Amino acid sequence: MAAPGDEFTFPRTGMSLRNRTVLAAMTNKQSNPDGTLSDAEINWLLRRAEGDFGIITTAASHVTAGGQGWAGEMGVWGDHQIPGLTRLAKGIRERGALSLAQIFHGGMRAPEDLTGQQPVSASENPCTEAHCGHSRGLSSEEIQGLIKSFGDAAVRCVEAGFDGVELHGAHGYLICQFLGEGTNRREDEWGGDIESRARFLLRIIEEVKSRVPDDFLIGVRISPEYPKIGVRIEDSLTLSELLVESGIDFLHISCWDCFIPSSEYPDDPRMITEWFTEFLSSRIPIISTGAIWDSSDAQAVMDQGADLIGVARVGIAHADWAAQVSNPDYTPARPPFTAEHLAVQALSEPFIEYMRNWKGFVE
Ligand SMILES: Cc1cc2nc3c(=O)[nH]c(=O)nc-3n(C[C@H](O)[C@H](O)[C@H](O)COP(=O)(O)O)c2cc1C
Repeated sequence: MAAPGDEFTFPRTGMSLRNRTVLAAMTNKQSNPDGTLSDAEINWLLRRAEGDFGIITTAASHVTAGGQGWAGEMGVWGDHQIPGLTRLAKGIRERGALSLAQIFHGGMRAPEDLTGQQPVSASENPCTEAHCGHSRGLSSEEIQGLIKSFGDAAVRCVEAGFDGVELHGAHGYLICQFLGEGTNRREDEWGGDIESRARFLLRIIEEVKSRVPDDFLIGVRISPEYPKIGVRIEDSLTLSELLVESGIDFLHISCWDCFIPSSEYPDDPRMITEWFTEFLSSRIPIISTGAIWDSSDAQAVMDQGADLIGVARVGIAHADWAAQVSNPDYTPARPPFTAEHLAVQALSEPFIEYMRNWKGFVE
């Protein structure tokens, strides 16, 4: 099995990574109201590129103004955002990491009080949880328009100098709402079995592929299970097969905890990553993320068959995590962290405030 410090090459593009570590997408609420990047947001990511991460992923960034999920979110929906994106992509490259922009649309989780528009989704979805609105179902024309918006956003990322995009199909946002049988009850070509529910995502991939250069990375992040809206592990395996056939460069599985079994099959001894690594048997590079903290966690997930390992919270607390994880004895301090410690790790005040929402993270 490979180790976290090993180099890696993406087979299709031949693009190389200095190690197997990925800073997973992290919303940090630091972007300007027009979706442009702030200096604070650029600094926090560049500091992790300096800390030796192989890949730096941006926060989820919306492809249309109406797809914004929360305040302070970065956007890729307008050309006015390109100069900031260019500064970020250039800085990441200068520090030796590869850059991915995570692009998405909030769907029913793009609140009207933020966007001024009624939320949209695969179907009409009444919803009462926070960040959720009573959505209306999209028309076929609107679906085609959104697919094009994903393509437009990817082209902006190319212009800005990013190495690739990660299509955010996880965590209950619009692409995930199409995948979930609970939120997608359409009776046209965009709904039905998993092949049909995946059509929106597959068309986005086609659109992006047709408009970006050959060496631009395209990956997809999914939630293997998201019972709340009807995303089930068997469907996710079928989806992963369709994604392999679509010719993307990587599949990112968002496990939240890589060390627990499937919630649907708790008696199956396999961890969620292993369901995919066994099923796909090395046909596509896999990133897996969730509850990796020290070097033995990192190695364990590689031993489950992941090609690359993603981290979020430990990368907030320890900017140099990637530089140290090859040391088998590396056991970075765990939460809670003081605001002073987080400031030294290049977090701005608004980001530290936001992290207070993550139970037990800030002292
Ligand atoms: C502050 C914060 C913001 C996050 N924002 C995003 C996001 O924008 N997009 C996304 O796909 N996941 C997001 N996540 C989920 C992480 O990418 C990751 O999957 C999750 O935190 C589990 O990894 P960890 O145990 O290493 O933190 C976020 C997580 C945190 C802690």
